[in-house]
Amino acid sequence: MKPGKLTLPELAEMKSRSEKIVMVTAYDAPGARLAEQAGIDILLVGDTAGMVVLGHEGTVPVTMEEMLFLTRTVARAVQHPLVVGDMPFGSYHVSDEDAVRNAIRFVKEADADVVKLEGAGPSLSRVRAIVSAGIGVMGHVGLTPQSETILGGFKTQGRTAAKARQLLADALALEAAGCFAIVLEAVPTPVAARITEALTVPTIGIGAGAECDGQVLVYHDLLGLTEGRAPRFVKRYASLAEDIRTALTTYAAEVRSGAYPALEHTYTMPEDEFEIFSGAVSSDVDRVDRSFQTGARAEPARPGDGTASGASAEGVEHAHGES
Ligand code: KIV
Repeated sequence: MKPGKLTLPELAEMKSRSEKIVMVTAYDAPGARLAEQAGIDILLVGDTAGMVVLGHEGTVPVTMEEMLFLTRTVARAVQHPLVVGDMPFGSYHVSDEDAVRNAIRFVKEADADVVKLEGAGPSLSRVRAIVSAGIGVMGHVGLTPQSETILGGFKTQGRTAAKARQLLADALALEAAGCFAIVLEAVPTPVAARITEALTVPTIGIGAGAECDGQVLVYHDLLGLTEGRAPRFVKRYASLAEDIRTALTTYAAEVRSGAYPALEHTYTMPEDEFEIFSGAVSSDVDRVDRSFQTGARAEPARPGDGTASGASAEGVEHAHGES
């Protein structure tokens, strides 16, 4: 464990002190570094990467290799925040053994501190198995995007008494199975509040109201890197898509107009060196064999043939790969 890393007992203490836990998703080193500098407690390398980084419609296509790559990148950039590797669809659905094997890969190959998986039901034995292997597990109930099709889309969950009761039962079962925290996604505020009260482990809400023990948002959503309609729970704290587009448009215009690069973006060389270079350059250029452009292959230059300024014929031939 890295020195200064936020530990699971410290997280539990935050809940007992009613100190809010701040989590954000992260997918690369610069983002992770900025999040750590901002004092974020937990970085979730979420499989939302499928949507906000990899360009898929949902999270289902994301692979283990992609998640390991992203998690490794985030983990190497930070010291203090807890790094959670999100287990992608298919990596824990077949068996407990598979789940443990893949959780171990997150920790050993990608330096994740803990893992997260979705759902209760069959996920409960996966949680027990992974925790028995010594790896912390964050649970996730409510809207679980990997089950988008079964849930009928990205919809609020637990809006009837029966469904809310089931959600509470699932959260309690995940806690009993060993989860150290549970994400509640798109759950009515009073239901999330009741679950938060009933659990001894922290709840992290996303679209679950202010009474959860902590909150999580997707990095791209909170920074305004995603545009257009967003879920109700998203608050955009910046408009980076707009800023980036403006910067790129200005760059393109300046390259085309010649305004960039200006003198201050360029390098110089000593004048005397430049004069020697200028004297040598025309004869070097004259000797270049350009027959490859016309199709007519010229005779290779012979060593000692009118070579100027110390540029040997051999050197020129080497430049063409004809040694
Ligand atoms: O993958 C993810 O980013 C998540 C959060 C939305 C909680 O699961």
